[in-house]
Parts: sequence; C-alpha cells; structure tokens
Amino acid sequence: MSEAIPGRAAIARMRPYHPPLEGRTGKLRLDFNESTLGCPLPVRIALRRLSAEAVSMYPEQETIRHEMAAHFHVRPEQLLLTNGTDEALHLVVDTFVESRATVLLVEPTFAMYRFYSERAGARIKSLRYGASLEFPMAEVLAGLRLEPRATFIANPNNPTGSLLGMKDLRRVIEAARRTLVVVDEAYFEYSAVTVLPWIRRYKNLVVTRTFSKAAGLAGLRLGCIFAHREIAACLRKAQSPYPVNAAALAAAHGVIGHPAYLERSLREFRRSRPELERGLRRLAVRFFASAANFILVDLGHRAKEVVASLARKGILVRDRSNDFEGRGYVRISVGTLRETRRLLRELKKIL
Ligand SMILES: Cc1ncc(COP(=O)(O)O)c(C=O)c1O
Repeated sequence: MSEAIPGRAAIARMRPYHPPLEGRTGKLRLDFNESTLGCPLPVRIALRRLSAEAVSMYPEQETIRHEMAAHFHVRPEQLLLTNGTDEALHLVVDTFVESRATVLLVEPTFAMYRFYSERAGARIKSLRYGASLEFPMAEVLAGLRLEPRATFIANPNNPTGSLLGMKDLRRVIEAARRTLVVVDEAYFEYSAVTVLPWIRRYKNLVVTRTFSKAAGLAGLRLGCIFAHREIAACLRKAQSPYPVNAAALAAAHGVIGHPAYLERSLREFRRSRPELERGLRRLAVRFFASAANFILVDLGHRAKEVVASLARKGILVRDRSNDFEGRGYVRISVGTLRETRRLLRELKKIL
C-alpha cells in the first residue's frame, strides 16, 4: 500500500482552528456575530428568482462588481469580490506574503490572520492588547520599523470590540513604509469608521468588508477587497476565476438595491446594544466598551459554567477565555431587543 503523502511543513506546524460551528440551527446564536434577523426579504426574493440556467452556468460577476463599485464609491478596478472575507485574507496572504516573511499581529484578534499566515509559512510577530484592551501603538510602530511583510488590523477588533480612530490608523499606515496594512472592516456598519477612501492615496493599504454581519448573508459567503488599482490588479491576477457563486451574486444585488433593510436592522441594533450594556451593569457584570455588534464580558471564574448553562437554555455565546490567558472573558453578540432581553433574563437567573 502507498504511504500517505505528508502535508507541507507549514501545515504540520500550524495550530488547528475549529470553531464550534455545528448544531446551531434553531438556537439563539449570539456566538458568531451574525445577524439574527435572518436574510433580508429582497435577498430571499432574488434567491427564489435564481434561474436554472444561472445555477448551471459559471457565475458572471462583472455587472454586479460594477454596481458594487458604484455603491461603495470606488472605481471598479479598485474592487474585488471574494468568497467572504476569509477568501479575501487568504488571497492577500497568497499574493503578498512569502514563506518565512514576517506578519505583525496584535492579538487577540480575528483568528484567520494567523491561520492563513501560518499556512503560508510566514512567521508571526505577535503583540498583545493591554489589560484594558488598549492598542499597543508604540510597540506596533517599533514593529513596523523592522518592515514585516504585512499586518492585519480588524477595526473594530474581534473579540475585543475596540476601535482605532482615523488618526491612529493614519499613524500605522504611514509608519508601514514597506508593509502591507490590511484593515478589516467586517463591523464597519456598526462603527461607522472607515479608511476606505484612503485606498487612492496609500499603495500599502488593503480594506476588506463582508456581507456576513450587518447584511445577514454569512451562509452565502460574500466579501470585498478594496485597494489601490496596482495592488488590486496583482490580487486579481492571483484570484481563482469563479470565487463568488451565483446565489451570492444574486443576493448582493438584493442587498445593495435595498438599503432600507440594512438601516432597519441597524436601528434595532442601536436600541439593543445599550439595553445589553444596561442589563450587564444591573447584574454587576464587567464588560469592555465595544464599537461592534458584540460585547466582551468578564464572567471571571464562572465563565465556563455560565456559557454551558446558557447553552442548555438554547442560547449560544462564545467563551474566549483561551485568548486571554484563562481570564473568564465571554463574547456575546448583540441580537434583537427581544433576544437581548431573553439573554438578560437567563443571565440573571444563572448569576
Ligand atoms: C474581524 C472579522 N473579519 C472577518 C470575519 C469573517 O468574515 P466572512 O464571513 O466574510 O469570511 C469575521 C467573522 O467573525 C471577523 O470577526
């Protein structure tokens, strides 16, 4: 019998990443920062209208890519559509990060930055958020002087919820003379802070967005990369020919053509997050200020027990203690106002 072919050395070295993604249907999903409102009606209509021909053909994306460029006020040559932000990150690493190059991260942050970088054989230079979750600006600026190949900043950051302002982002981008700065704006709709217009000016800047969060399309996998046209051309050369499927393209049309649905879900969010904060204060649960659709709370030594008790009640939240040296930090997504009240009722009983 032949022997199993070993994976590349980088694969053998990398840490596995298996988020708890099974068995969530029908539960109150406050564990992955998805929209809990379900898919917007125009998207459902667009999916229903998807023709048999569209499904049997390779997807054609140019019309929607141009529509999308107009929607985001960029030129089509500055935009790529991707299979979620995940593919965007993968593509950026594949295109720009050589094996053994250094990638600078401030952790804890979104796990896929490390995942794709390690998979490519890159070395991670990891800095840490401070005890109050402050961004280590001086260390980052010093790290950039060593000219790592790339750095990834989720803004707002997941799982901390913290946000870098425009002035700080400018300092990082301008200090990154020979480093690609990827600003992942997956939660932009909640923070309203963006560096997207800067792609015209900075050739070392890549901005990513997703339709998985506020737009409610996590299951369809749709994201965008925005970059200076020279960077975007390089990425396009390296991208697979059919990254986005026909259903996601049809759905994208449904989302950008009907901004009122997004606005409605954001209105609900703007009522729900303060309700969650008030409820946590009443329960004397410490939490960190968040610019995103989730809040990192400190449940101390009771974290695991609380997460398990909520799960028994059909409410899923995410234990992030492992990212914080075992401190009992739990990330809770902001659902609708009703869902927030249900969560708070259950939390009160448990605590
Ligand atoms: C910061 C950040 N970027 C990207 C993603 C994933 O986006 P997508 O579903 O488009 O791959 C997440 C999901 O949790 C995230 O927190």
